[in-house]
Amino acid sequence: MNDFISSNLKKLKNNNIPNPEIDLRILLNYSRNSKNEIILSNFNINQINIDKFYSILNRRILHEPISKIINTKSFWKDNFYVNKFVLDPRPETECIIEEALKIYNNKKNHFKILDIGTGSGALAISLAREFENAEILAVDISEDAIKVANKNIREKKLDKQIRVKKSTFENIDDEFDLIVSNPPYLTITEMKNVSDEIRKFEPEIALYGGDDGLDFYREFALKIDTKLTNTGYFICEIGASQFDKCMEIFNESGLKFIKKSQDLQKKDRIMSFSKL
Ligand SMILES: C[S@@+](CC[C@H](N)C(=O)[O-])C[C@H]1O[C@@H](n2cnc3c(N)ncnc32)[C@H](O)[C@@H]1O
Repeated sequence: MNDFISSNLKKLKNNNIPNPEIDLRILLNYSRNSKNEIILSNFNINQINIDKFYSILNRRILHEPISKIINTKSFWKDNFYVNKFVLDPRPETECIIEEALKIYNNKKNHFKILDIGTGSGALAISLAREFENAEILAVDISEDAIKVANKNIREKKLDKQIRVKKSTFENIDDEFDLIVSNPPYLTITEMKNVSDEIRKFEPEIALYGGDDGLDFYREFALKIDTKLTNTGYFICEIGASQFDKCMEIFNESGLKFIKKSQDLQKKDRIMSFSKL
């Protein structure tokens, strides 16, 4: 193996980076001078901008996630621009799209969707891709997240279909056929124990759900039904151990629990409701 490759792989390994070969290849390709894909086995140093490479390698050594370094994260059928102001969209959140597709099996449906806490816009954009006639409103309380969502929406030429607004859901004065949300749901203890990759590089406003992590579900249980049409549905993500507590909370709501869905690790992750 080329000395340059082996010494930089060693740096990543010594700093406990979990998949050093994969990451090194991504970092090299992100610093490359030409369009040709770089592979480790026949790497030549002239293929990269060396200053750029060392600057991003050092960021990775400090455990900045690859997605934040290359400003890209894939979700559902797209790549999304991400930065420090938005949570990286995660695979478990894709279950929300799967559940929406089970409820609305007519992809030509004309209906109104609300995405609460849109972040990068990943859910709103993926739903727009699946339901081309849906009219979508995406809200977030963070001005910086809204800029990212708007960038992704513009790049994917979906600005006619998706409107973005800086708002909490309580202030939206309209009714929707489908409301989706992946709200912040970490507890105060979980916030203290998250990995450095999350604590240092994901925005706190996207993570913290109050002392017991359940603040957003209590708000949803109180008011979501007033934002749903009579035939409307609500699908939300929950923390891996929050199902029982969320069931208690939503028992008191104007919503009828339909089902829970699990992620690939078999953890309860998504709750679906219809209006009572
Ligand atoms: C867990 S992230 C989800 C981002 C994106 N929907 C996803 O699934 O990848 C939660 C988002 O909710 C936003 N948020 C936090 N509090 C909010 C509030 N009161 N009203 C609306 N959005 C809020 C955060 O800024 C963040 O973008």
